[in-house]
Amino acid sequence: MFSFGSWLLGPLLPKTTLAIFVHALLASASSFSLNAVRDTANDWASIPSSSSLQWTSCFDNFTCTKLQVPLDYGNPARGSTSIAIVKYAAENQTADTQNIVINIGGPGGVNTDFLVENAAVVSGMMGSQHNIVGFDPRGVGYSGPTVDCWPGHPERRAQFEKLYYPYVSNASSTALDYQFYAAAIFGQACNPTVGGSDGNASFVSTPAVARDLLSYIKAEQVAAGRPEEDARLSYCGMSYGTVLATTFASMFPNNVGRIIADGVLDASDYYDLGWKTNLQESERALDKFHQYCYEAGPRNCSFWGPSVSNISDRFQTMFEKLKSSPVPVPASQMCQIPILATYSDLKQYTLQALYDPLANFPILADILSGLEEGNTTNYMQAVTSGSIPANPCNNGTSGSTVDADTLIKCVDGYGGQKFENVGEYRVYVEKLTHESAFFGEVWPNNANTVACRAFTAELPEHGKLQRSIMETRNTSFPILFVTSEIDPVTPKHNAYKMSSVFPGSVVIEQNSVGHTATSSPSSCLIRHLQAYLAGQIPSPNTTCQAEMLPFQGSGINFR
Ligand SMILES: *[C@@H]1O[C@H](CO)[C@@H](O)[C@H](O)[C@H]1NC(C)=O
Ligand SMILES: *[C@@H]1O[C@H](CO)[C@@H](O)[C@H](O)[C@H]1NC(C)=O
Ligand SMILES: *[C@@H]1O[C@H](CO)[C@@H](O)[C@H](O)[C@H]1NC(C)=O
Ligand SMILES: *[C@@H]1O[C@H](CO)[C@@H](O)[C@H](O)[C@H]1NC(C)=O
Ligand SMILES: *[C@@H]1O[C@H](CO)[C@@H](O)[C@H](O)[C@H]1NC(C)=O
Ligand SMILES: *[C@@H]1O[C@H](CO)[C@@H](O)[C@H](O)[C@H]1NC(C)=O
Ligand SMILES: *[C@@H]1O[C@H](CO)[C@@H](O)[C@H](O)[C@H]1NC(C)=O
Ligand SMILES: *[C@@H]1O[C@H](CO)[C@@H](O)[C@H](O)[C@H]1NC(C)=O
Ligand SMILES: *[C@@H]1O[C@H](CO)[C@@H](O)[C@H](O)[C@H]1NC(C)=O
Ligand SMILES: *[C@@H]1O[C@H](CO)[C@@H](O)[C@H](O)[C@H]1NC(C)=O
Repeated sequence: MFSFGSWLLGPLLPKTTLAIFVHALLASASSFSLNAVRDTANDWASIPSSSSLQWTSCFDNFTCTKLQVPLDYGNPARGSTSIAIVKYAAENQTADTQNIVINIGGPGGVNTDFLVENAAVVSGMMGSQHNIVGFDPRGVGYSGPTVDCWPGHPERRAQFEKLYYPYVSNASSTALDYQFYAAAIFGQACNPTVGGSDGNASFVSTPAVARDLLSYIKAEQVAAGRPEEDARLSYCGMSYGTVLATTFASMFPNNVGRIIADGVLDASDYYDLGWKTNLQESERALDKFHQYCYEAGPRNCSFWGPSVSNISDRFQTMFEKLKSSPVPVPASQMCQIPILATYSDLKQYTLQALYDPLANFPILADILSGLEEGNTTNYMQAVTSGSIPANPCNNGTSGSTVDADTLIKCVDGYGGQKFENVGEYRVYVEKLTHESAFFGEVWPNNANTVACRAFTAELPEHGKLQRSIMETRNTSFPILFVTSEIDPVTPKHNAYKMSSVFPGSVVIEQNSVGHTATSSPSSCLIRHLQAYLAGQIPSPNTTCQAEMLPFQGSGINFR
């Protein structure tokens, strides 16, 4: 079964976000249900692969195809692989109808599953006159090639996770060293299976995915009887999806149609394997938890107290207490093995909660108020829901993380700074801690760059960027960058930095807290997105107001 959140820059649209979308937009699509998760894998196996687009009807309301592409665009003789693509057709085809490719981030997010589960919501956001396209990047979801570092041995991955992920970097005086040495296990497993010059991982870099996007839009042109060279990409990407956006625009500036990039990563930092430009706003986002909880009152926030400082003091106390006294939790229905409720896992969950405050602040409050009373039920629900980097309840029967997520970051950062020794890693974590006292030690388990330290792959030339991602590019249509005012992992500064690479591009802000602006969608934001798709570029300095605050229920309606 599919679940969000097993990849982390993160789960770049956490599933809880969707609940909000649903409440927000579902006036029309009454048949849609969040719980109607479908296992699509069997069906994908029956979809034929071809180098032209051969659509097959699938999953009731969709059409599917697998696009055959060369593993190495510079040397097609090295073989081919296939890209899984699913399309949700426009309600009415009009002259304005575009094929909008969505990317929910990760990089390991499975866009095909996401679209199959949430098509009505996405279509409501983008406008029902458009076709919405779910496209799994190489190595992800149902696209080839497979990148599995422990083929046939999920228990080995589970063991790696138990060694590598359980502590945030400064949870104890030795936690950082354990992470550093455990990280080598990832390289030891991945090098012989998917690494080296001919391993599957060498083909899954983001520039190769950008070439696949170009292949796809050209194939759509051919199918429509139009000239290939007029192919233009329409695209909406979140988080890591913004790296794919800027990569495509840098490589193929004349093929930019409408590109929306929300929750923007600093792509130069990403390609440098830096992961140093994420936490600049995360303390502010955490402050908002305390503030909104206070303002919501005791009925709406279960962790409420008579002042903001009362709430933040109790919050700090809870973490200090848990640090020295983890709570033993016996095996249960929810968790088949006994575990400890820990400082580290609560911190990891807290960062995830900041991604999506509308959905998750009330859950975080319930966890904390439960723990104050010695009740671990809410804590257990949260840590087993796939929202922290590794599920502590994984008993080894299934893999809980996706190797593709880390491997894509590693191959994209092939020319970047790998940690040579534990001292360099310590300097990195100290820098993060300097930026965010609370989350600095949490970020390494999300960025996962240390896991790349012992992994080696050799990329084909066509899988690499041919120039700096920061080199100015004139695009055939201006890119639309979108950011929330306080984003815990992609601060708004990144949106302006990436916008400076693309003359004419525009940044719009939404005055909200959370990772991506669409994690708390407003009618203003949706109006601007739809107008942009129709060719209208918002004026610079456009700011939307959030229409909902955390702890206030979710009865928003845009219709
Ligand atoms: C999907 O298709 C079913 C029938 O196969 C239909 O009842 C339903 O309304 C469709 N859902 C959406 C979201 O269009
Ligand atoms: C689609 O066409 C139908 C019938 O012509 C019309 O009632 C409906 O409003 C149209 N929907 C959109 C999104 O244009
Ligand atoms: C490499 O990818 C191919 C195609 O998906 C797959 O058959 C093969 O098992 C993969 N190799 C490894 C070691 O994952
Ligand atoms: C509490 O939540 C309800 C909706 O459940 C909302 O109407 C109300 O405004 C909230 N109260 C405060 C003080 O935020
Ligand atoms: C917070 O407020 C409660 C209720 O007034 C009080 O019992 C508690 O001591 C306060 N805690 C802190 C840390 O201020
Ligand atoms: C613990 O919390 C859960 C969830 O809020 C609740 O259902 C349960 O009754 C609580 N257990 C006890 C012993 O209070
Ligand atoms: C492992 O966990 C899964 C899912 O939680 C459960 O179905 C299975 O029975 C467990 N296996 C063992 C050996 O405990
Ligand atoms: C760990 O925490 C201590 C005390 O708060 C701090 O001095 C140190 O710099 C931190 N170490 C790292 C690697 O962040
Ligand atoms: C972009 O276009 C402007 C105006 O047409 C031109 O002056 C500039 O040299 C172009 N820059 C690049 C990098 O192509
Ligand atoms: C946008 O805001 C910046 C700084 O806040 C300001 O310098 C600039 O003049 C504004 N641009 C427009 C078009 O208002």
